[in-house]
Amino acid sequence: MKNYENVTIFNHPLVNHKIAILRNEKTSMKEFRELIEEITTLMTFECLREGVPTVEVEVKTPLEVCTQHMVKDNSIVIVPILRAGLGMVNGIHVLFPSARVGHIGLCRNEETLEPYEYYCKLPDGIEDKLVLIVDPMLATGGSACDAIERIKARGVKNIKFMSVIGAPEGVARVAEAHPDVHIFVSTLDRCLNENGYILPGLGDAGDRLFGTK
Ligand code: PRP
Ligand code: URA
Repeated sequence: MKNYENVTIFNHPLVNHKIAILRNEKTSMKEFRELIEEITTLMTFECLREGVPTVEVEVKTPLEVCTQHMVKDNSIVIVPILRAGLGMVNGIHVLFPSARVGHIGLCRNEETLEPYEYYCKLPDGIEDKLVLIVDPMLATGGSACDAIERIKARGVKNIKFMSVIGAPEGVARVAEAHPDVHIFVSTLDRCLNENGYILPGLGDAGDRLFGTK
């Protein structure tokens, strides 16, 4: 895959360690869920380095008064793509417990691999927030593009997309379609198989998170 200015691939040793356990078919549902949350927290730290609305406050330390930046209240909205994106929400709430959550329900048609929407509920006043769309798997990029378009249609300008595993074709598709959206993936895998699954991947993230298979 070529280099895109709006794509960050983590390749961090601590995250890679957790991804190795995540990929293992023997990893239990409980451990899988915990790992997704932990990886999300680690990623959020880097993902929010730029673009976070802040306010300057005055703080009195035991020694003197100083000014300090804090994250602006009610400025971040998390939007998980259902179902699997739900597994990432707590990993961000650990850092920002008051972040509001919007939900976009998308499911891929198994033949066309195109996503169809079955649910969408976004917080009022979302247009001036930083919207962090999350989904552990970025495969063909269809779901990511669809979710980004829905958020943009609501007037949002400040959007980031965070995913645990990306396929080169999907990451390139989203990066090119939305050069104004920064995409963060922990690791870039080899390719997609004929059914649109990421190789080597980790299987179906939703099924592994919720025990549906
Ligand atoms: C998975 C995954 C992404 C999507 C990625 O969801 O969680 O949303 O596929 O594939 P794409 O990049 O090709 O669109 P799925 O549609 O299987 O629904 P689920 O989360 O309910 O299992
Ligand atoms: N969705 C998943 O859950 N896994 C994949 O490999 C591709 C799409």
